[in-house]
Amino acid sequence: MTTTTDLNGSVAFITGAGRGIGRGIAEVLSRRGAKIAVSDIAQKDLLDLETYVQSIGGDMITGAVDVTDKSSISTFVNETIEKYGKIDICVPNAGVIGAQGFNKRIDSVDEDWDVTWEVNVRGVSNTVEEVKGHMISRKSGKIVIIASHGGRKPRGVAEKGRGTVQQPYMVSKAAVIQFMHLLSIELGQHNINVNAVCPGRLWTPMWEAIAINHKTNNSDYRDMSTEEIFIQLSKATMSLGRPQTPEDIGKSVAFLASDDSSEITGQAINVNGGATLN
Ligand SMILES: NC(=O)c1ccc[n+]([C@@H]2O[C@H](COP(=O)([O-])OP(=O)(O)OC[C@H]3O[C@@H](n4cnc5c(N)ncnc54)[C@H](O)[C@@H]3O)[C@@H](O)[C@H]2O)c1
Repeated sequence: MTTTTDLNGSVAFITGAGRGIGRGIAEVLSRRGAKIAVSDIAQKDLLDLETYVQSIGGDMITGAVDVTDKSSISTFVNETIEKYGKIDICVPNAGVIGAQGFNKRIDSVDEDWDVTWEVNVRGVSNTVEEVKGHMISRKSGKIVIIASHGGRKPRGVAEKGRGTVQQPYMVSKAAVIQFMHLLSIELGQHNINVNAVCPGRLWTPMWEAIAINHKTNNSDYRDMSTEEIFIQLSKATMSLGRPQTPEDIGKSVAFLASDDSSEITGQAINVNGGATLN
């Protein structure tokens, strides 16, 4: 395996790192030499990651952060700066697909709009809000927001006749991409790069909920397991034809967090195996 990205000496602040994509990002950044400040609303889920990071000789601290609660973010930002002296990289990753019961619904309900806005949009703005002052004072920083290719073009169950259940999620991801554009304009003068990675389809608890939704509401999938649905859709819709892994997303984040991408800002980059073409 070859890699050009070296993050030795950097400190990365990552939300929603207890499982799935966030965990994959944390592992990759740690392997590339960054000290990681990892948080999740479910802090106990970070124990496993801690064991892994210790096994590769990495350095990390954990925090209980609910991204809808600014004070919990601010507390962990302060703890990170106290321990490591700085934050170079901020990865707002925590996200939700919808409210309780999403996996069985064809159409969205008010709670889907509320929770996706609170976590996927306000959660990102809250996180950036708590970190950017520190980055501005250091005249240096890399912010990499985890959005979705669904925030750029309608996908999956958003297609005609497939119900509205994913509308709130996709709208939240489009909003966060626009927020990233605006932030890149605001923070460029302070030598802060702001970009978004737009993953495609990864087998995480979030996608399992989507697969259950397909199985429940679409007779084409009724006799398939949720994982089979995921693999079939990955093969059918992605040019590379293979399921993506959290590490794939981590590698793109590592690139955008490194000096190799110093002239890239304000970009939403699809990392989706070619599922959506620009
Ligand atoms: N899985 C995919 O196919 C896919 C595709 C495109 C984009 N994404 C995006 O990637 C990110 C991670 O998704 P995932 O698939 O790993 O999801 P996941 O559900 O597996 O993990 C999400 C993590 O965020 C945490 N979280 C949820 N609400 C939180 C809150 N209020 N505060 C702090 N942490 C919270 C959860 O505890 C969990 O650890 C999300 O922003 C998601 O929208 C995922």
